[in-house]
Amino acid sequence: MPRTAAVGAAPTATSSSRPGPWRGVIAEYAGLLPVTDQTPRLTLLEGGTPLVESVRIGPGLLGRIRLLFKCEGQNPTGSFKDRGMVVAVAKAMEEGAQATICASTGNTSASAAAYSARAGIPCLVVIPHGHIALGKLAQAVRHGARVVCVDGNFDDGLRVVREIVRDHPIALLNSLNPYRMDGQKTAAFEVVDALGEAPTYHALPVGNAGNITAYWWGYCHYRELGLVGLPPRMLGFQAEGAAPLVRGQPVAQPETRATAIRIGNPARWQDAMRAIHESRGGVSTVSEEEIRNAYCRLAAEEGIFVEAASAASVAGVIRLAGRGFFGDGPVTVVCTLTGHGLKDPEYALEDGPSLEPVEPRAEAVLEHAGMSPHSTATPALAPCEPPAGGGC
Ligand code: F0G
Repeated sequence: MPRTAAVGAAPTATSSSRPGPWRGVIAEYAGLLPVTDQTPRLTLLEGGTPLVESVRIGPGLLGRIRLLFKCEGQNPTGSFKDRGMVVAVAKAMEEGAQATICASTGNTSASAAAYSARAGIPCLVVIPHGHIALGKLAQAVRHGARVVCVDGNFDDGLRVVREIVRDHPIALLNSLNPYRMDGQKTAAFEVVDALGEAPTYHALPVGNAGNITAYWWGYCHYRELGLVGLPPRMLGFQAEGAAPLVRGQPVAQPETRATAIRIGNPARWQDAMRAIHESRGGVSTVSEEEIRNAYCRLAAEEGIFVEAASAASVAGVIRLAGRGFFGDGPVTVVCTLTGHGLKDPEYALEDGPSLEPVEPRAEAVLEHAGMSPHSTATPALAPCEPPAGGGC
């Protein structure tokens, strides 16, 4: 069975409906990707991520909303980047690239480093000093990339990287690379393959604006093939302090704790705005508090641990639903959860519990946990208070 089958899978004309173990993005969707017989079948078995039904956040929203999460943190390096990266690095191999390069807020660098390692090509990653989550940095380092921090933000890093590839034969792995976009389209294919149709709305966090564009292109591709009727309306969400698309102008000093989307001048700005307009969707902001609240709720109420940026899409949907945006009719909303929570342990633990050690005695442990050691009805496991919405 394809791994996308968390929701009733419908038969499609693509290879992803074939039985058998998942084979990775290139093998599953070769017919829809710019690959030839000469393209190496590079893979870490990326893609095929679950589309998980919301059990608490969705049912609690105002309106008849079926909310689903596309869990991209389950890709090999823990983010959606692997889908596009596998195609971009395979094409770089095919074209004989001697090295690869990217600027990154973290996930692109982790993915570029992993796939370049797999391909046996040296990789250079350029990251903003002091604003990259620890897990992502650890990945880039351990996969053997040359890591250079710039005294500036992502936008400065990307400018430098674009300059370098102008003068040197190094393959650029940012989403300016069209193969990255082709690979990322497969996430939209999978959503349709799993649902049997497109959702009414598709919500995403927006940083460099590649992913929302790629999803739209993916839905349009399926529509051209007659595999989907109406494509979804695309909803993009940016953090208030890093919202150039919403403000309509670049943000010189973008700021947000959701470091993955701390970007002031997105490379795919125009493409993303076209996707949003063509789909009759929208782009708006979410506050740091709303992001944190959605982040905590996803973990505590849905059992899904994401990184801060990923929670922006859910925060946005919660905000819009509260305003009656989705109306009375039944709607299906898919939120892409772009990256895994383990990427950023510091954000996770900033208001965590006290970890003062207690005596290794059952009574002491239960007492410290706030559970009565003397209760006869539920001897050991009286449930803890459920966290109030966003209890962090
Ligand atoms: N969510 C996560 C977890 C990301 O890492 C990114 C982008 C986005 C959302 C936004 O996607 O850029 O296509 O609009 N991260 C890039 C990086 C910029 O360098 O890892 P986008």
